[in-house]
Amino acid sequence: MALRTLDSLGSLSGKRILVRCDLNVPMKGGAITDDGRVRASLRTINTLLNAGAQVIVLSHLGRPDGAPDPQYSLAPVAQRLSELLGKRVTFASDTVGGAAEAEVNRLTNGDVLVLENLRFNPEETSKDENERRGFAQKLADYADAFVSDGFGVVHRKQASVYELATLLPSAAGLLIASELGVLERLTSTPERPYTVVLGGSKVSDKLGVIEHLLPKVDSLLIGGGMLFTFLAAQGHSVGKSLLESDQIEAVRGYLEAADRHGVRIVLPTDIVMASEFGAKAKTAVRPADSLEDTPFGDSGLGLDIGPDSAAAFAEIIRSSKTVFWNGPMGVFELEPFADGTRRIAEALTEVDGLSVVGGGDSAAAVRALDFSDDRFGHISTGGGASLEFLEGKRLPGLEILGWQA
Ligand code: 3PG
Repeated sequence: MALRTLDSLGSLSGKRILVRCDLNVPMKGGAITDDGRVRASLRTINTLLNAGAQVIVLSHLGRPDGAPDPQYSLAPVAQRLSELLGKRVTFASDTVGGAAEAEVNRLTNGDVLVLENLRFNPEETSKDENERRGFAQKLADYADAFVSDGFGVVHRKQASVYELATLLPSAAGLLIASELGVLERLTSTPERPYTVVLGGSKVSDKLGVIEHLLPKVDSLLIGGGMLFTFLAAQGHSVGKSLLESDQIEAVRGYLEAADRHGVRIVLPTDIVMASEFGAKAKTAVRPADSLEDTPFGDSGLGLDIGPDSAAAFAEIIRSSKTVFWNGPMGVFELEPFADGTRRIAEALTEVDGLSVVGGGDSAAAVRALDFSDDRFGHISTGGGASLEFLEGKRLPGLEILGWQA
């Protein structure tokens, strides 16, 4: 079955529509540090408004403990949405309480209302299906139809993602449709050479995707904190660098499987070692097979891939026709360790083909390093969701909209 799209809802004029977005944006000191997910939600919201609908926006923010917590309020996000839409957006200080109900009743055609963080209600993420359904029913009572557009959350079986879609006429929004269009190109018939670049701190987060993609890609480039587990699996010592000892065996298995499939797993040949974790650390570039040999003795830790590795990775990326990248190459938030990530991002902008930046940290990294979104083929809004998609997992929030892999 195919994904149900907006036209399946018929005329939207005068209808009240619940739109599940993923406005879970990174924040620092109450300010949004990357509004990419808010911007990515605009197309669907504007389409509904232009069709004369009344729009009620639903989202979560962070992982509050099932109770109101001001640091996770969506109020600053509603404000940003208002700026980007260029129109007034009202905000309700609860989700299924008196404030939300009053605001919903005041809506007229072309209005936008944002409800407070869904996860302030424990039922949203409850393991108990009846609790989730009860909460979803209260939301459904507000509206005539439901549009699911939070691609970043389609891997979660939660009330506003799954149950709500069963209670109202429902369809996928334009963001979900476009994310799927791009990600399917990575899984069905990618143009070759096909390169996947993985970074980030933990191998354990990426096991599924490595296993699933190994038989499909031509090159798999490994950076970020997870590279040290690969180096350890090859028998190298990694000093005080991040290491998941319990994953060494799994990683050895991948290295062997890569040989069998004729896939290149490319590891860095040099590493930026630091005397400590921090922007003021002393640094030294060392060959990846002798990381114990630093001016800082065995207290050195690797915080970025080195310049030779960055150049070699960039060359493979630039000569690929399809590239998917998830996870920074180093601690890009600290300038002395940002270069590896910067050079990989730069190389992606030069791909003559499809370049996709997986969401989460990598999307935040390219924006923090001042790359504009339009320099890449696609920046996914899904972190975990895009990885699970590429792992070939069943995604409840998509299946409930009629989509089948
Ligand atoms: C994300 O940022 O990956 C999504 O918003 C999902 O958030 P979660 O991992 O807290 O469910």
